[in-house]
Amino acid sequence: MRHTVTKVVIPAAGLGTRFLPATKALPKEMLPVVDKPAIQYVVEEAVRAGLPDVLFVTGRNKNALENHFDRATELESILMRKGDEERLSKVAESTGLANVHYVRQGDPLGLGHAVLRSQAHVAGNSFAVLLGDDIIDERDHLLERMLQVHDQRDTNVVALMEVDPSQAHLYGVATVEATEEDDVVRVRGLVEKPERGTAPSNLAVVGRYVLKPEIFPVLERTKPGRGGEIQLTDALLTLAEDHSDGRVHGVIFRGRRYDTGDRLDYIKANVQLAAERDDLGPGLRAWLREFVQTFED
Ligand code: G1P
Repeated sequence: MRHTVTKVVIPAAGLGTRFLPATKALPKEMLPVVDKPAIQYVVEEAVRAGLPDVLFVTGRNKNALENHFDRATELESILMRKGDEERLSKVAESTGLANVHYVRQGDPLGLGHAVLRSQAHVAGNSFAVLLGDDIIDERDHLLERMLQVHDQRDTNVVALMEVDPSQAHLYGVATVEATEEDDVVRVRGLVEKPERGTAPSNLAVVGRYVLKPEIFPVLERTKPGRGGEIQLTDALLTLAEDHSDGRVHGVIFRGRRYDTGDRLDYIKANVQLAAERDDLGPGLRAWLREFVQTFED
């Protein structure tokens, strides 16, 4: 299927302080989830949706990312000499996966600022933004659906998921109106990380966006918001409030999402994804059953 969207922006300039000391020298995007860096799942998702042009907005972690998506000639020739085809194919997986580009964020002024840094690269076209902390199960087709809604309605699209009200303060939270499509809503309000107990709904923005270039001038005039950072959520609110027909829609995602953003969720994501795998799943599931019993009193 042809989309009007061809480019993906992946902000990857975070300091990853929640994972110190692991992230002292290693970017958090490179932490493995089972046996693959978290960021590779996200790039694979973009490629599956037909978007192999990927721009990373990086910080001090540029080198490790660049190396991961580049050839590793020395390693390849050692594995080739050994005739180890299986491992060779694992090395090659990320090399030709996407056409990767890099831009530095410079000052870490927030997600909205990171997105603003992609303006020259996306060159007046709509584009997708994928946040590395969220992994969407490869059996679910969230990004494809968002691209479809963007194309059909000519609108900005955010991914929304129902979350437990106790978790709403960790997300951008949307106020919405139904449309004639069961999984599509019109976004009327957005608030970035509302104070506990004040969230206007339990519909949280998860890290997938399809944005029109009209976001850039809005981002340029968006003042620092929550945490003193320029928030993409605030710029989207400006667009949502700007027009009675709604220039921001949400796709309600009811599929499988793995959060790697904090330590506990990261551990859960590793266990969930490994438990689903053909190679590791049977052994892990059997062990988990026994292990869980050791907690029962
Ligand atoms: C960002 C966004 C937030 C969104 C979240 C999804 O926050 O600012 O609106 O709900 O991603 O993961 P972060 O978690 O990067 O602080």
